[in-house]
Amino acid sequence: MNGVRGRDGAPGAQVRVRASGKLNLALGVGRRQPDGYHPLATVFQAVSAFEDVTATYAEGVSVTVSGLHADLVPLGEDNLAIKAARLLAEATGIEAAVHLHLHKGVPVGGGMAGGSADAAAALVACDALWGTELNRDQISELAALLGSDVPFAMHGHTAVGRGRGHLISPAMTRGSYHWALGLRRNGLSTPRVYAAFDALIGDAAPDEPHLDAELMRALRSGNAVALGAALSNDLQPAALELAPHLAETLALAEDAGALGVVVSGSGPTVAALAADGDQAVAIGSAMLAAGVVDDVLCVTGPVPGARVVHGIDQAPQADDEW
Ligand code: C5P
Repeated sequence: MNGVRGRDGAPGAQVRVRASGKLNLALGVGRRQPDGYHPLATVFQAVSAFEDVTATYAEGVSVTVSGLHADLVPLGEDNLAIKAARLLAEATGIEAAVHLHLHKGVPVGGGMAGGSADAAAALVACDALWGTELNRDQISELAALLGSDVPFAMHGHTAVGRGRGHLISPAMTRGSYHWALGLRRNGLSTPRVYAAFDALIGDAAPDEPHLDAELMRALRSGNAVALGAALSNDLQPAALELAPHLAETLALAEDAGALGVVVSGSGPTVAALAADGDQAVAIGSAMLAAGVVDDVLCVTGPVPGARVVHGIDQAPQADDEW
């Protein structure tokens, strides 16, 4: 592209990386700390709503966006993928030279960390494109500087998040879970939801939130019914205060037979756990038919974290979509 050459001498060298959105199966939130952040005890699950980031050598750093809610994504310096590329360049002393194309499958401002997935994917893509020779741990340290959810977007699968959500340890899980996700085009601002949490709960929140042992047991045994009963989110009352219509979506998904329903992260995405793929489609259809959501996604989890799907020297794979 533009005659700019990669380190390996290949003009227009390109890397494609896929990262996924997340659900919080449990989100325990503690009292606001002096730095403004809240200590978390959360269980993340990466699900099959994907961000595909293609990084191409170019002059400077730029971004274009296609896919779900593409028109809602900022294209300037506050775009998390751009921030990720610049941070990696700064940390390694390499000239920032990349065009990033984001193909979005995760709702914007939906509480599913789509922006964080873009940041994780951009880190991995630029690392491969520029040949930085950083290891995965070093990249994860940079990820934490970009946002609380970015280290999990690197990691994927199912994991416990502590600290601001950025300290990740893998969780033992069995099986695959089917979800119907109810989406709203009008997102919720994460800082606003945390502020509403402070107003509602404030000093009554614990210093150290705990993880529910039942939920961890359900995941270890692969018991979807028990997992459904154990889903929880301390931010849900705050999200419901800012978006009262979510109560109707939650109730409707439950009436449609969901094993459990929960607002994902700071919302407004509503995640309904289904017994299988067919039931997920039925729950999604019921939400759409009732007009309580703008869109529906049926996904499965867990899925992997940010990973190269088409490297500099690889031919595109047969199942590539684009
Ligand atoms: O880390 P990130 O930039 O994604 O966080 C966005 C906002 O969410 C923070 O500015 C803060 O208001 C809130 N937040 C929080 N406690 C956390 C994570 C995020 O209060 N553990």
